[in-house]
Amino acid sequence: MFTKLVIAAALAALPTHIMAMNNGLAVTPQMGWNTWNKYGCNINEDIILNAAKAIASNGLKDLGYNYIIIDDCWQLHQRDNKSKQIVPDPTKFPRGLKALTSDIHKLGMQVGIYSSAGTYTCGGYPGSLGYEKVDANAWAEWGFDYLKYDNCYNEGESGTPKLSYDRYKKMGNALNSTGRPFLYSLCNWGEDGPWNFASTISNSWRISGDIYDNFNRPDPACPCETYDCNLAGFRCNLLNIINKANAVSQKARSGGWNDLDILEVGNGGMTTEEYRTHFTMWVALRSPLLLGNDVTNMTKDTKDIIMNEEVIAISKDKQFSPASRIWMKGDQQLYSGSLENNATNVILMNTGEKSVKITATWEDIFLYSLPHVNTKKSIKVRDLWLKKDLGSFSGHITLDVPSHGVRMLKLMDTAVTTD
Ligand SMILES: *[C@@H]1O[C@H](CO)[C@@H](O)[C@H](O)[C@H]1NC(C)=O
Ligand SMILES: *[C@@H]1O[C@H](CO)[C@@H](O)[C@H](O)[C@H]1NC(C)=O
Ligand SMILES: *[C@@H]1O[C@H](CO)[C@@H](O)[C@H](O)[C@H]1NC(C)=O
Ligand SMILES: *[C@@H]1O[C@H](CO)[C@@H](O)[C@H](O)[C@H]1NC(C)=O
Repeated sequence: MFTKLVIAAALAALPTHIMAMNNGLAVTPQMGWNTWNKYGCNINEDIILNAAKAIASNGLKDLGYNYIIIDDCWQLHQRDNKSKQIVPDPTKFPRGLKALTSDIHKLGMQVGIYSSAGTYTCGGYPGSLGYEKVDANAWAEWGFDYLKYDNCYNEGESGTPKLSYDRYKKMGNALNSTGRPFLYSLCNWGEDGPWNFASTISNSWRISGDIYDNFNRPDPACPCETYDCNLAGFRCNLLNIINKANAVSQKARSGGWNDLDILEVGNGGMTTEEYRTHFTMWVALRSPLLLGNDVTNMTKDTKDIIMNEEVIAISKDKQFSPASRIWMKGDQQLYSGSLENNATNVILMNTGEKSVKITATWEDIFLYSLPHVNTKKSIKVRDLWLKKDLGSFSGHITLDVPSHGVRMLKLMDTAVTTD
């Protein structure tokens, strides 16, 4: 009797959803558009609605880009004295936010909002720490479907996974109790290892300081080179973020993804080749794909990158397996990951200043594959950027890879065979 009671009490104390956040969202990494990288604080209803209309009409929505996310600076500096709600800035949003979410819903898309798990947002507006219920209820009432939740002014409630977990879970609970499904996107810059503490309470978590629109320029504002350093910083270049993401890539799962930050494709700081590398790695490492450019005025190069259906299909692949770096030899890197239908995703990357030939052997490509692949087999290879079958290869593949570029490949029918 006593034992039974003890066991019952112990069971009751277990979390009800151990594996994932269990809100049914972000089965594959979320896709959409966010205001921050292009517009920063200079946002308003016209910019956001025009972006949403462009995405709805130019084919981006049909490819899966369906969340329109309003980042920081939508607020007034003071909460409403009576309701205690955060007040949308009426000069930026003269009709309020409910009218805007309603217009975006009519375009067949969903809408995201931003706040910080601190006393202020990073832009100095009211944060949601201590106001979780008030704010979650307001966003639900205004028709939002998504929250990006930042980490500024957190009052020292960080530094251990427990402090971070408790602070972020409070908002998760508040969102849940609105009864409205919210995709919950944590932005604590990788502090305290969200790939370990946040996977049960959120749909995605940032793994680094903010992205900078540059391929490899070191910046003192982004002091950490490794994923486990708790000084996230900002202005982190592309290779810095890829290195950090690779270290934790296998922590992702359906419903809970490593977020490498908003895309910079189309914003002008990198070459077309570098942007192709950027998009390739966000897809292969299974990051959310949030556009950060002016989607009303895009070059052909930008469109060709963000609208490549075969590449986007990897992000939506039901094998849910992020690629892993197999090796790094000087400027050359090899990544591979399993795909559905017995296919394999392979990336040859050249971070150097000159075009090189990179060779990847089947032994290397299938190093982590289970069950093991018969490495004597001849394998059909498709190039996802050239959108072309390259033919059948035996034992290895050798390809030219441009400076700062990648070859993104799909190897067909790579299942185990016995010989
Ligand atoms: C709240 O009250 C303060 C002081 O009474 C006032 O300055 C402020 O404008 C009020 N804020 C709002 C949003 O009404
Ligand atoms: C709230 O959480 C419960 C338990 O995990 C889950 O079943 C439910 O779908 C969640 N509701 C919403 C609106 O997210
Ligand atoms: C559109 O983009 C081009 C550069 O690609 C720029 O020169 C032009 O000013 C932009 N137009 C608008 C309306 O922003
Ligand atoms: C994957 O490979 C296995 C083993 O060869 C085979 O039984 C299965 O039918 C293949 N699945 C697909 C979808 O091709």
